[in-house]
Amino acid sequence: MSKFIINGQRPLKGEITVSGSKNAALKIFPVALLTHEPIKVFNVPEIEDIFRAQEMLIALGHEVKKTGKGAFELKFKNQKSADLPAGLVNKFRASVMFVGPMLVKFGEVRFPHPGGCVIGAAMRPIDMFVDNFEKMGAKVELSNNYYRLTAKKLKGADIFFHDITVTGTESLMMTACLADSETLLKNCAMEPEIVSLAEYLNSVGAKIEGAGTSTIKIKGVKKLRGGEYKIIPDRIEAGTFAMMAAASNAKIDIKNCEPKHLEALWFLFDKIGVNYKLSKDSISISPSKKLLAYDAKTHEYPGFATDLQPPYTVLMTQAYGSSLIHETIHDRRLLFTDSLTQMGANIVMADPHRVVVNGPTKLYARKLVSPDLRAGVALIIAALISRGKTEIDNIYQIDRGYERLDERLRNIGADIKRIS
Ligand code: EPU
Repeated sequence: MSKFIINGQRPLKGEITVSGSKNAALKIFPVALLTHEPIKVFNVPEIEDIFRAQEMLIALGHEVKKTGKGAFELKFKNQKSADLPAGLVNKFRASVMFVGPMLVKFGEVRFPHPGGCVIGAAMRPIDMFVDNFEKMGAKVELSNNYYRLTAKKLKGADIFFHDITVTGTESLMMTACLADSETLLKNCAMEPEIVSLAEYLNSVGAKIEGAGTSTIKIKGVKKLRGGEYKIIPDRIEAGTFAMMAAASNAKIDIKNCEPKHLEALWFLFDKIGVNYKLSKDSISISPSKKLLAYDAKTHEYPGFATDLQPPYTVLMTQAYGSSLIHETIHDRRLLFTDSLTQMGANIVMADPHRVVVNGPTKLYARKLVSPDLRAGVALIIAALISRGKTEIDNIYQIDRGYERLDERLRNIGADIKRIS
């Protein structure tokens, strides 16, 4: 397993550029199943989760051709099988995004329940996918943890999501594009990635209204064309870099981002006293006089993103006072705070969803293991501000979502090495 070795407390300074959004780019691969025409996609982050999505699309009969840095052409060759390969489904949960497009385009799909996940319940549920495809007319069979969904023709339906789900909203939205008649989705997620996906789908012939609000209306069409799709900047990466700069008291300019997607973070920055400036597509962080503690509660967009909670928790270890961090989306996303405590942070776990961080505290280097993507990057921030040499193992988890992170951090002065 590869690891990072980080010598902390090096002064950070300079410019860092944000990649294309992982959670926007992942969705174009299932969308490619909906058309036989080629799709050109740009600004795709070259990260492990994207490689898994490409492998899935290839296994399902498409060609994926790299045409430049972050640029790919996706082209239908032949449908090979109705099976989503179990090895891939077990490795990445977003594989469930391929179910709807397979069903509407090819009438059948078979797959195991997506594998366990360290941030959610051991068997993260997929009821909001399966039950709603059933509502659209699919026949669902489940045996030995293996699903088989079949449908001659999916029909429009009136669907209410009992919880707000990002991939659920996107999945039903893309699938309904080729269903008979009209689908109404209620209590939808409103993330910028969903708006961007709807804009792309409309540009290739779909009829979607309301993406970015809680109700989305989709009129089924006969066919979608191929097209061109430029992936929006990764708001989670931008927010993470902003907190990395604030925690290490650095002067860093974050380029090629969309600050308007991070309003909940700017609210918190105002409360805690971060010295920052925004332009249309960049963020400048300068050293702050004193950081103050402030509570944060994760919420669906436009609230404070769960994917930004781990770096915010690290930032609070450097702020004066006590902050209550309340994680409301993913069940196990605060467990990584145990590693921060080992590094010297003063964190009290109230229950699995809430911790109190008392700061500021000095942090000290430790040998750590990255439990998941967002906690992994939070541990990197902790290591950058710690005394001594931290080792972070299992960095596949970080490579899943951040492209060449070590190289980009070295460019702003970090002492970080990758050991294979
Ligand atoms: N849920 C159900 N039933 C379902 C689906 C979800 O009960 O059928 C529950 C989940 O267990 C969770 C809640 O609903 O408690 C919300 O999960 P959601 O479905 O919104 O999460 P997701 O769509 O699987 C996406 C991002 C996550 C991000 C969440 C929340 C992608 C590929 N993933 O996940 O990103 O945390 O939305 O914003 O878009 C990450 O990038 O590190 C990451 C985990």
